[in-house]
Amino acid sequence: MDKIIVEGGRRLEGDVRISGAKNAALPILTSALLADGQSTYTNVPDLRDIRSIKELLKTLGAQIKCDGNTVKIDGSGLNNHEAPYDLVRKMRASILVLGPLVARLKKARVSLPGGCAIGARPINLHLKGLEQLGAKITLEHGYVEAVAEKLIGNEIYCDVVTVTGTENLMMAAVLAEGETVIRNAAREPEIVALADVLRDMGAKIQGDGTSIITIEGVEKLNPVEAGIIPDRIETGTFMVAAALTKGDINILDCEPDHLGATINKMKLAGIDIRISGKTIRVKGNGEIQSVDIKTQPYPGFPTDMQAQVMVLMSVASGLSIISETIFENRFIHVSELKRLGADITVSGNSAMIKGNPGGLSGAPVMATDLRASASLILAGLVAKGQTTIDRVYHLDRGYDAIEKKFSALGAAIKRIKA
Ligand code: EPZ
Repeated sequence: MDKIIVEGGRRLEGDVRISGAKNAALPILTSALLADGQSTYTNVPDLRDIRSIKELLKTLGAQIKCDGNTVKIDGSGLNNHEAPYDLVRKMRASILVLGPLVARLKKARVSLPGGCAIGARPINLHLKGLEQLGAKITLEHGYVEAVAEKLIGNEIYCDVVTVTGTENLMMAAVLAEGETVIRNAAREPEIVALADVLRDMGAKIQGDGTSIITIEGVEKLNPVEAGIIPDRIETGTFMVAAALTKGDINILDCEPDHLGATINKMKLAGIDIRISGKTIRVKGNGEIQSVDIKTQPYPGFPTDMQAQVMVLMSVASGLSIISETIFENRFIHVSELKRLGADITVSGNSAMIKGNPGGLSGAPVMATDLRASASLILAGLVAKGQTTIDRVYHLDRGYDAIEKKFSALGAAIKRIKA
């Protein structure tokens, strides 16, 4: 397995360009299954998870052509309704093919995604919503089987805000007969991005970005040309890197409007953040103030930034409390950060961090999930000495050539191929 080695103490400065958002690209590429004909997507990030979803879509019969960050997908040949375990287990978001398969083929057999390091990750709300649209759901031998004579619009209430659950139900409802209303829908920018693409395909959707989404079903959808929005979590990760290293970074091709809570909290921590169009300039200077963080569904503070901001609080001056309200086991990075010298105490879904400027020292650590591995790189940037991060395949799932981007900003970082 590849490792990444970081020498701490370098100040980062210069420009970094943000890649397309993994969590927007996954549902948008999957939505190609909803139309006959070739759709073209630009600014698609080059990530393990994107390669996984393309492999799955090909298995289902889609034709795919790639040219750098442009991906062309033709859903005309959709002829297989089964998403096998060996593909779904590689990436949970494969469950996103469920809605489009039921919408187009009126049947689907998708392996249950199972849990992951950060939580059980149930899909009960995906399934309940599809049942309310008329699908008959059975679970056996580790697979979800969904069959529907036809899909009929309905009122759906999500007990919990679910991002991919909202996306799956949107992609089923757009080809259902009549009106569907999804209440307590997720409001993430990735939901709006998917809705924009579906509308360009001919879908009738309103309310995306709010907690009530209304969809009027249509007979068919047409292929589309669409660009993937910038990755707000990659953007936040580089913002934290600038603050940690007392650097001066221009983050280009990002979408500041998608980072309201993150920007607000980092400004309260005393970080100098200046926004100009699609560029965020972050200058780390002076002391970092401790602030309390509570993760929430969008527009609250994103759970995918929790591990990164925990590193910032580890070298702040004071005490901070970070509460993780979205996933039940998303503090796995704490034990690794403590190996680097962070002073963190976990109690239930809260972590208390005693900040200690200059308190981190390099050590061998292990990545456990995607965002946790990013936090280990961030810690390595400011830890005294060398930090070696193992199992970086987690990182490659969601960050496009991150060590190259950090190296271009002046970090002493390299990947050791296994
Ligand atoms: C999406 O996961 C993202 N993944 C996650 O990003 C992100 O952390 C998460 O949303 C929250 O923002 C993609 O978009 C591909 P959820 P998702 O369904 O949709 C519970 C990353 O690092 N729930 O919004 O799987 C669930 O247990 C990844 O890029 C149910 O109870 O998350 C959790 O507590 C990590 N029943 C909460 O809802 C369901 O049917 C939010 O989960 C579905 C979810």
